Amino acid sequence: MTTDDLEAVIAIQARAHLPEFHESRESFACKLARAGETAWMALDEAGRALGYCLALAWQSALPLPVLDAGQVAAVERPDCLYLHDLAVLPEAGGQQVGRRLAGVACAAAMSLGLRGILLVSLADSAGWWRRQGWSDQPGRSAPGGYGPGAIVMFRETDCRSDREKAGESRLTK
Ligand SMILES: CC(C)(COP(=O)(O)OP(=O)(O)OC[C@H]1O[C@@H](n2cnc3c(N)ncnc32)[C@H](O)[C@@H]1OP(=O)(O)O)[C@@H](O)C(=O)NCCC(=O)NCCS
Repeated sequence: MTTDDLEAVIAIQARAHLPEFHESRESFACKLARAGETAWMALDEAGRALGYCLALAWQSALPLPVLDAGQVAAVERPDCLYLHDLAVLPEAGGQQVGRRLAGVACAAAMSLGLRGILLVSLADSAGWWRRQGWSDQPGRSAPGGYGPGAIVMFRETDCRSDREKAGESRLTK
């Protein structure tokens, strides 16, 4: 993902997420600047955007950013990825686009030597994340803005399976 993709990201967000969970283009741009290489677009064969995933190198003891944060501080000595958002166009759903994007993030965490991936799941998505290998972190509250039922989840890096996931990244750039 580059800044040139932000228009497509905002268009996918508008279709995939309820309005109360929409973030501004400025907030995405600020997180993309911090993310660098750990943000990806899923494209179809014609190059059309089907989904995206944006993650930031993070320190697991730090609080996670609120929804639509205007600023995200640089993190010293990251030990995990914070997967900020993953979304797929409804018409591309059920074709494993989401699974592949999550797999690319897992492969990146492994190759960066990070111990796992933290995320905030919206209430309706927790079942999907559990199926992808994430576990609830009951001692940790979701940051502001994610709505009732949002939970923090974590998945440890699994070197063998995450190396295999790296081979499934054909849809992304
Ligand atoms: C959740 C989401 C990323 C899944 O993307 P996807 O590309 O359709 O997912 P996949 O094709 O990899 O997986 C589809 C499977 O997950 C299941 N699934 C889809 N959404 C689910 C949900 N919310 N809870 C539980 N299972 C779900 C499907 O039934 C399907 O099951 P099957 O394989 O047995 O047929 C997508 O629906 C989405 O963008 N949702 C809105 C944004 C969102 O909530 N993102 C997560 C933010 S934290």
